[in-house]
Amino acid sequence: SEDGYRLWMRYDKITTVAVAKKYQSLATSVLLEKESATFVIAQKELQLALQGLLQTTIPVTKTIQPGAIVLGTASSSSIISSLGISEKLKALGKEGFVIFSVVIKNKPCTVIAANHDIGVLYGTFHFIRLLQTQQSIEKLSVVSKPAIGHRLLNHWDNLDRTVERGYAGFSLWDWHKLPDYIDPRYIAYARANASIGINGTVLTNVNANAQVLTVPYLKKVAALANVFRPYGIKVYLTARFSAPVEIGGLTTADPLDSAVQAWWKKKVDEIYTYIPDFGGFLVKANSEGQPGPQNYDRNHADGANVLAKALAPHNGIVMWRAFVYSNEVPEDRAKQAYNEFKPLDGTFEKNVLVQVKNGPIDFQPREPFHPLFGAMPKTPLMMEFQLTQEYLGFATHLVYLAPLFKECLDADTYAKGKGSTVSRVIDGSLENHTLTGIAGVANIGNDRNWTGHPFAQANWYALGRLAWNPSLSSETIAEEWIRATFSNNENVVSTLKNVMLASREVTVRYMTPLGLHHIMGWNHHYGPGPWIKDKPRADWTSVYYHQADSLGIGFNRTATGSKALLQYTPEVQKIYSTPADCPEEYLLWFNHVGWNHRMKSGRTLWDELCHHYYAGADSVQWIQQQWDSIHNHIDEERYQQVKALLAIQYQEAIWWRNACVLYFQTFSKRDIPTGLPKPD
Ligand code: GCU
Repeated sequence: SEDGYRLWMRYDKITTVAVAKKYQSLATSVLLEKESATFVIAQKELQLALQGLLQTTIPVTKTIQPGAIVLGTASSSSIISSLGISEKLKALGKEGFVIFSVVIKNKPCTVIAANHDIGVLYGTFHFIRLLQTQQSIEKLSVVSKPAIGHRLLNHWDNLDRTVERGYAGFSLWDWHKLPDYIDPRYIAYARANASIGINGTVLTNVNANAQVLTVPYLKKVAALANVFRPYGIKVYLTARFSAPVEIGGLTTADPLDSAVQAWWKKKVDEIYTYIPDFGGFLVKANSEGQPGPQNYDRNHADGANVLAKALAPHNGIVMWRAFVYSNEVPEDRAKQAYNEFKPLDGTFEKNVLVQVKNGPIDFQPREPFHPLFGAMPKTPLMMEFQLTQEYLGFATHLVYLAPLFKECLDADTYAKGKGSTVSRVIDGSLENHTLTGIAGVANIGNDRNWTGHPFAQANWYALGRLAWNPSLSSETIAEEWIRATFSNNENVVSTLKNVMLASREVTVRYMTPLGLHHIMGWNHHYGPGPWIKDKPRADWTSVYYHQADSLGIGFNRTATGSKALLQYTPEVQKIYSTPADCPEEYLLWFNHVGWNHRMKSGRTLWDELCHHYYAGADSVQWIQQQWDSIHNHIDEERYQQVKALLAIQYQEAIWWRNACVLYFQTFSKRDIPTGLPKPD
C-alpha cells in the first residue's frame, strides 16, 4: 500500500543496481546465537528490510557466512565476546550500540553489538537507515548512544478516544477492547518508535481522568506495556492530583496529609504489581483549572514529592509540568511559570523532572526559549515540544518542525557563560544531572497514515532523532526522512529538503511574523483571530498579546514593560532589549515598536509587516510548484493528498494574511505598501 501507513519504514526496492549489488554481498545472513524477544524483533526487521530493499530473503544462521550481520551482546554471543571490544562497549551505557565491519575467520562481516538487547535493536535500525539512505556499509565504524535518557511521546488521549488537540483521528488506544484484544497497530506503533529511539510513552491526556488509575484500566495499560516492552518502550500515565478524592474516597488530596501520602504509596505499589517496569507519572497541576497542591496552599514541590516518594522504591519518575498560569493573576502570562518554579529550585525529590515547554507562552509558531532553562540549576529540566500542530495549521498545513526544535535547543541561556545552550540544560551536561528527558506531544491518531498530513510524520521522526542526538541538523534529519519515506532520487531529495527547511518560516510569516504571537482564533486555535474581543479572560481581550495601538505594535517585555525579559540572564537581555538591536524575528515579542520604525530592509515596520504576510502566503504557492515539479517521482495517492492539502494551506495563508493586515491596519492607519495587491 502506498498510503503512508509504513511511515519511514517503507523499504521499497533499491533501483540503483550498483548499490543493490554491493549490499547484496555485504548482507547475506543474520547471525544470531541466542534468541530473546528483542533480538528476534531486530532479526525480523533486518529480514523485512532486505526483503524489500534488495528483494532477497536472507537466512538466520548460527555460523559465520561471508557477509553475515552479527547481532548480539557480549553475553549473548560468543563471537562478539571474542572480538575484544569490551572497553568499547563499556562506554555505550544502557542503550548505545556499535556497528563495525570486521573480518572473522576470513569472512567479512558486519557486527551490531551493544550491552543490552535494546541497544542491538537500535543499532539494527541504524544499520537499516544506512541502507535506506544508500550509504556505504563497507567500512563501518559507528559508535552511538543517546544524549538524553527519557525520550518520550506525550499522548493527550482521553479514555473516550478523543484526543486533545489531535488532528489525526481518534486515539490509538482502544480501551474498550483492551486488555484482551491487541490491535496490531500497537505493535506497528512500538516498532516505529523503536526505529527512532523513543523509549517511553505517556498514554493519557495531561488534563487527566483519574479512572485510568483504577484496576480495570491498569490491566489495560499492562497489556500495552507488554506489547511495548521488547521494543524498549516504557509506559507512563498522567496522574490527576485529586485522584485520592475521586477514586480513593478520601476527603482531601493535600500532599502533606498522611492519609493522602499513604494512598499514593499504595496506589503506586499496586500499579507495579500490574506493570513491573512502569515509568512513572506526568502531572499537570494548578494550570487551566486542573487540581493541584495549591488547592491546599502547598507548592508544586510538595505536590511532586508525594508522588516521587511513592515511585522512588520502584525507580519510577515524576515529570511535573511547568506549564502553569492563571488568567486571574494580573501578570504577563509569559512570566508566571518562572515566578512559580524558580524559587522551588532544589526542593524537588531526586526522581522529579520539571517538564518545561520550549517557550514561555504556548507552542507558538515562534517563541524565544523558556526563561526557566538555565534558571533552575539544581533541578533536572525536561523539554516539552509539541508535534501536534495546535498553532501551526493542525494536520492541514505542511510545517516541518525540526528547525523550531533546533532554534530552541541551540539557544544560548548564558546560565554559566557562553555556550550554556538549552540543549546542554536538557542533556544534563551543564549541571551534571544524570536524570534527563525530552518529550513531544504526539501528533498520532488512528488515521491510516498515523499523522493526518503525510509530512507530519517527519515531525514525529525528527523528535526521535533529536532526542537521541540534539546536535543533528534539521537538514540531515529531513534528508534521512525523505530518502526513507519518499525517494532517493536526488531531485526529489533536494526539492523536498528545500521545501521542508523553509516551511516553518513560511508559516511564521503568514501567521505571526516579527515576534507576534497568540493571535489565532481563540478556543480552536485554527485560523486568525487577532481581534478577539469581549472574552471573559484578561488574556483574551483584543490587544493583550499584540498590543497594537495608533503608535505601534508589540508587547513591551523589557524593563519598561512587563519585565519578562528580566527573567533571562543579562547577556540574553542585552540581545532583545531595544527595538534597534533586537533580532527582528523576536522584535514584537519583546518590544512595542513604532509603525515608522526602520527595519533592516530599510522599510518601515508597517511596510515590513505587510511584506512578511504577503511573502508568507506567496511562498505557499512556491511550495505547491515544488511539489508539482516532482509529481512523476511520487506515488499518486500521496501526491494527490499533499496537493489537496497544499491548496487548502494556500487559501488559509491568504486568509491569515488578509485578516491580520486588515485588522492591524485599523491601528496603523497606513496604506498597504505599493506593489502589494490589496487584500480582499
Ligand atoms: C494548551 C492547549 C491545551 C492543553 C494545554 C497544556 O493550552 O490548548 O489543550 O491542555 O496547552 O499543555 O496543558
